[in-house]
Amino acid sequence: MISFKGYDDIIERIYRFNQEHVFQYWDRLNDGEKIELLEELSKIDLQMIKDIFSQKTYSIDGEFSPAPYISLPKNENEKNLFKKAEQIGIKHIKEGKLAAFLVAGGQGSRLGFNGPKGKFPIGPVSGKTLFHFHAEKIRASEKKYNVSIPFLIMTSRDNHEETSIFFKEQKYFGLNPDNVNLFPQNMIPSLDRDGKLILSGFNSIFMNPDGHGGSLTALKTSGVLDKLKELKIDTLSYFQVDNPLVKIIDPVFVGFHIMNTADISSKTLQKSYPEEKTGVFVKFAGHTIGIVEYSDMPKDKSGNTSYSAANPAIHLFNIQFISKLTDSGRVKLPYHTAKKKIVGLVDGKQKELDGYKFEQFVFDALPLTEKNVILEILRGEEFAPVKNASGQDSPDSAKELMTALNRKLLESKGITIPDKVKEIEISPLIDIAKNIIIPNTEKVLIS
Ligand code: UD1
Repeated sequence: MISFKGYDDIIERIYRFNQEHVFQYWDRLNDGEKIELLEELSKIDLQMIKDIFSQKTYSIDGEFSPAPYISLPKNENEKNLFKKAEQIGIKHIKEGKLAAFLVAGGQGSRLGFNGPKGKFPIGPVSGKTLFHFHAEKIRASEKKYNVSIPFLIMTSRDNHEETSIFFKEQKYFGLNPDNVNLFPQNMIPSLDRDGKLILSGFNSIFMNPDGHGGSLTALKTSGVLDKLKELKIDTLSYFQVDNPLVKIIDPVFVGFHIMNTADISSKTLQKSYPEEKTGVFVKFAGHTIGIVEYSDMPKDKSGNTSYSAANPAIHLFNIQFISKLTDSGRVKLPYHTAKKKIVGLVDGKQKELDGYKFEQFVFDALPLTEKNVILEILRGEEFAPVKNASGQDSPDSAKELMTALNRKLLESKGITIPDKVKEIEISPLIDIAKNIIIPNTEKVLIS
């Protein structure tokens, strides 16, 4: 067994868990490099890694059926209930109880875009980035409700610096920099087919971000949760980086959340076709609510049209609930396993090997709630995911949806749209007045 002053406990643990191959290049390392490796190893919970590997096929516990949800209002009574929710939501927002929480730690590999996905230009006319849209929506809500809304952004080790620099360069898109809080999520090692740690270099371990489920733990470990409590924030509005249509601060949603004293509230929309790659809301046999991801859907149920309540990944979290979950440190959510090709160090050279990547999903906190709300929304008004480089759920389809929504908004105000117009972008900072004239050009930017 190797030895190094001050680190022998860690070294002994590595041998005990049969992971000593991570020291195979030990003799090539200088003392600084040895310490770097040992420090990285000291942060890995080897028992947890072993446990995850031994149950590596995530499976759904027990039977489930489609989940009930609050449908879009159809009659006067339901419309009145939505109005009541809106009033309650407005009051809550104005009292400064809300913070916006963007998860942006993912790798965006399907889109094939280099760098943080939030830097992707999505404005159909202006080319503004996803981050820009999100930030301006928050600014618009701050103005509308005359309140300050903290903006939390979870990044990952790989994109934290670039994201921070971008926000600085862009002067926080006009937000108060003190209200913008970027923090990286935690990392978890990937494993090879035999459950062994993978070296990414002579003295480093291959890690991946621990999934958006890691956001709850990261809120705690970064100290952000305590800050929110000091600010008397009680609700987090959670959203993904890839949806330019998301309503970040939505009083109706907040109102239902408050009226139901929910731990988590979630939005849902109808799947556009049964095989669409979205999670769906379900009710488990024990009456708890949850989401089953498309990739985890049992064969006999996948494609079943009664599972149509899709997950656009828009939630409200009660801060006390997150506190309770994170009381003992890491939140105990299951890990989902993905088989991946990983480039690691093998026999002194970078080589592609088969491995496993592990992630927690934030919606696995749903079955842990005592109370929750699922609220139906209109797809065309709030969901335009940017996932793939082309085709479905791509920048092109998202831009089309943005234009369609803007067209609908202008028409609802009685504004005439000339025939030539193909693309319409409206800045989130603009309140559309009835009397605007739209030019007869292909691209229209209202800002
Ligand atoms: C996700 C949902 C799916 C939902 C769909 C809606 C999962 C597993 N599935 O699918 O149920 O219907 O969105 O668009 O989430 N992220 C992190 N850290 C990570 C991993 C991801 O911050 O370690 C962030 C990403 O930056 C992104 C979001 O989480 O903002 C979603 O991640 P992604 O992997 O793109 O999920 P999807 O497969 O698109």
